[in-house]
Amino acid sequence: MKAAVVGSGAWGTALAIRLCKNGHDVTLWTFEKDLIPQMESQRINPRLPGAKLPEELKISADYACVKDCALVVVACPSFPIRSVCKGIAPHLHPEAVLVSVTKGLEFGTTLRMSQVVQQETGHAVVALTGPSHAEEVALDIPTGCLAACEDQHLAEFVQDAFMAQNFRIYTSPDIVGAELGGALKNVIALCAGVTDGMGFGDNTKAMLMTRGLTEMARLGVSLGARKDTFAGLTGVGDLIVTCTSMHSRNRRAGILIGQGVGVQEAMEQVGAVVEGYYAARSAWELCQKQGVNMPIFKAAYEVLYEGASPQVAIKELLLRDRRPESEDAGWL
Ligand SMILES: NC(=O)c1ccc[n+]([C@@H]2O[C@H](COP(=O)([O-])OP(=O)(O)OC[C@H]3O[C@@H](n4cnc5c(N)ncnc54)[C@H](O)[C@@H]3O)[C@@H](O)[C@H]2O)c1
Repeated sequence: MKAAVVGSGAWGTALAIRLCKNGHDVTLWTFEKDLIPQMESQRINPRLPGAKLPEELKISADYACVKDCALVVVACPSFPIRSVCKGIAPHLHPEAVLVSVTKGLEFGTTLRMSQVVQQETGHAVVALTGPSHAEEVALDIPTGCLAACEDQHLAEFVQDAFMAQNFRIYTSPDIVGAELGGALKNVIALCAGVTDGMGFGDNTKAMLMTRGLTEMARLGVSLGARKDTFAGLTGVGDLIVTCTSMHSRNRRAGILIGQGVGVQEAMEQVGAVVEGYYAARSAWELCQKQGVNMPIFKAAYEVLYEGASPQVAIKELLLRDRRPESEDAGWL
């Protein structure tokens, strides 16, 4: 099948390699036109230096490369996704299946990424998300992800396109829960990094991850997601991988902030898109709109955008009123 991956960051590149290995005819669209000669001659993308680009993978900086593709994977970061989709929209085949693999919430609208892609292209969209470092997928290390879409046939179409022995794709109708899990866990990963950077231990991180997951599910359910999705690959699965790995730039940015580096300086030092930084702002906006109690997300917003000190934010979280673990503990 003819396919295009729009976005040549680490993740778009790893997925383009996967689709090539699965026998598809793939073009990788890049924003970085200047890198094309190097990528074509050396078969290496500096965004994912550990992976060899297959000889048959085509590279283009022309939006028209999506023409006649049955599958179009949008893999750019969240901030340019609307403009990128505007660019490809006029060239899409009317039957093309669109896939969003971007993890974020649009600034200003708080829309999920598939909603932005759908608005700009008019096509139904499948979200492909889960615990997946590009560096590991590119090395064919066993990985599991979720293809989520209300339309079962479309979810299964995407499952078939990507599935491989070491890339196991599950399906789900809960695209709301799947995408919110992917976007919100980046905020918790940043916070986990902050606690690591401050020298706290595994106990602290385990508390942060589980209470963070509770807040993610609370917001998700208020927006129509299924609670059990947050116990799956795109919820707890992605939270584990992002909060515990040095591959995670969200966690690395958090570690720097916890060590006392300024927020902007930390973003620059990481040198790649730190989606959790942007998601923290949209998540806090959504949380206020929905009237949901999310103290960890509030603290993250205050540290990242209002100059609050991580030490004070953590102390305030720890000194909150005592309470049962679950709202439906059954005692009341
Ligand atoms: N890296 C991973 O392991 C991974 C895994 C799953 C999901 N994701 C998600 O995939 C998305 C992309 O992340 P990544 O890691 O591939 O990115 P990256 O940081 O490796 O690369 C960023 C890419 O954005 C491009 N870019 C910069 N400005 C642009 C613009 N104005 N318009 C279009 N493109 C522009 C750059 O050319 C570069 O290719 C993110 O939402 C991320 O959360 C990443």
